[in-house]
Amino acid sequence: MPEQAPGVRIDGLTVVYKTAAGELPAVRDISLTLEPGTITGIVGESGSGKSTLALSLLNAVQPPGRIAAGSVEIDGLGDVVGLRGEELRKARGRHVGYVFQAAQNSLNPLKTVGKQLLDLGRSHGVEDLRGLVREAKELLGRMGLDGARVLDSHQHELSGGMRQRVGIMLALVLNAHLVVLDEPTTALDMITQANILKIVREVHAERGLTTLVITHDIGVVAEVADRLAVMYGGRLVEQGPTREVLGAPSHPYTRGLIKAIPRLVGDIDEAQALPGRPPTLTSVPDQGCVFRDRCPLRMDVCDTVDPAAVPLGSRIVACHAVNVKEHA
Ligand SMILES: Nc1ncnc2c1ncn2[C@@H]1O[C@H](COP(=O)(O)OP(=O)(O)O)[C@@H](O)[C@H]1O
Ligand SMILES: [Mg+2]
Repeated sequence: MPEQAPGVRIDGLTVVYKTAAGELPAVRDISLTLEPGTITGIVGESGSGKSTLALSLLNAVQPPGRIAAGSVEIDGLGDVVGLRGEELRKARGRHVGYVFQAAQNSLNPLKTVGKQLLDLGRSHGVEDLRGLVREAKELLGRMGLDGARVLDSHQHELSGGMRQRVGIMLALVLNAHLVVLDEPTTALDMITQANILKIVREVHAERGLTTLVITHDIGVVAEVADRLAVMYGGRLVEQGPTREVLGAPSHPYTRGLIKAIPRLVGDIDEAQALPGRPPTLTSVPDQGCVFRDRCPLRMDVCDTVDPAAVPLGSRIVACHAVNVKEHA
């Protein structure tokens, strides 16, 4: 893999989970490009398929799930959907740095963080282990932690927020040029969160990374992402430059999400919760638009035809009502 920011092209990706009702899609026919050197944010309510999409970037979807269709082309690695075994293991960590959702719980309880760091380095053939430890301490230090002390600690000796920062350190320490952060700041208070996001941005710029940040909190992506992709019920409903999407959302779901956040609306009294609840794997409709039950713009066609993702200026939007208006 080249020592520079890789581009990523996700094309027609569908991921299904086996359930009592058969195989159901958690991610449905998603296409998304991560431009080299950019930070892309994926936002959507819980259950919209964000973590499943993130796992697909590493071909790490576990049974009862599987990638049923599509490809994930990463520069220098090829289509990771075809990678297996050792090739895949090497790609993870070294080429793709990854913070799992609930990174707080992904550490080995029996080993110190430092021991796990060395294991990680050895398993990826790092020769300069001292350099690796130095790098880890420096990253932890930047995130406001005492690096030496954290490396000497076991998981139970660290708070949730500290573990989350350890997760971010482990994703960055091998110097991967594609970094995927799944809910990296959920266990943190607002001030620490802002701080960590600032560091993510700095490291991203210093190292020339391609970064994907996944969150249910649109305020988080507003702060870090160059481009924004909005997920609902396994579909990407809108994507485009962050400032444009937040400033003038096209899709009714994006509009609803933004309206629900006082911080973004700028006035607490104006903020309105999105009515209804997001669908689950079994309640998401198998035909028509996934958002129609909560949609203020619902039309007849929405019940039967799943809207295609259509380019609209610098955006891509999947909504019959928006596209009818644009093409009228
Ligand atoms: N191992 C699994 N088995 C069955 N269903 C799953 C599994 N993991 C996730 N799902 C379902 O897939 C959908 C998407 O989940 P997920 O990707 O975790 O969404 P998000 O990260 O946006 O909250 C949800 O309906 C979830 O219940
Ligand atoms: Mg998730």
